[in-house]
Amino acid sequence: MEQRTTKGKIVIKDDWPGYNLELFTYPQHYHDDIESVYIPHGVVMDRIERLARHIMDDVGDEDIVVLCVLKGGFKFCSDLVEFIKILGRSSSRYLETRVEFIRLKSYLNDQSTEDLHIIGSRDLSFLRGKNVLIVEAIVDTGKTMKALLKHVETFQPKMVKVAGLLVKRVPNMPENLTDYVGFEIPNRFVVGYALDYNEYFRDLNHICVISEMGKMKYKI
Ligand code: HPA
Ligand code: MG
Repeated sequence: MEQRTTKGKIVIKDDWPGYNLELFTYPQHYHDDIESVYIPHGVVMDRIERLARHIMDDVGDEDIVVLCVLKGGFKFCSDLVEFIKILGRSSSRYLETRVEFIRLKSYLNDQSTEDLHIIGSRDLSFLRGKNVLIVEAIVDTGKTMKALLKHVETFQPKMVKVAGLLVKRVPNMPENLTDYVGFEIPNRFVVGYALDYNEYFRDLNHICVISEMGKMKYKI
């Protein structure tokens, strides 16, 4: 597999406690279920705007197929494509983007399950010969991304790049799988901005750390 070189990223240190909840607004029904605001929504947006610029600089003037990894990637994908569009309007270069979706599931509670389930859009033959940008909200153990990359490569795209909004620092992370990284974060379970815990918290704008209470309440 091709070696990837990441452009730069915001590194959040292990001892970052996040912001006190009272400093921001959030849905009140989650009051006891989150511990802190880890990355405020505004910072997420500003960082995505920069990632869009990197992507434009690298692949501008060509067409790309954005492959959005659902469900967690829907917000990141939508905001990233929006920024790419805005950049295209204010420059002479326009990156034509087509958005496709793939749905994966590998988590139960806060644990990664062994197997990768591709639910929906298994046949990706439309990727043949295309520049593909995989858009994933979080690269955790790297197992899912590795399996997905292998699957995508079988359809013989011209090029594959990976954008991950969050990349976790986990023990023995394999090789670098992500070309565009928003934030490198400690190995903690985060929710919000479309990231879920058993389908909850997708309606939270900020990226937050779930509390023990939240884990218990929504456990299945
Ligand atoms: N939060 C939500 N979903 C996830 C995470 C996480 O920290 N890691 C992998 N999937
Ligand atoms: Mg999930």
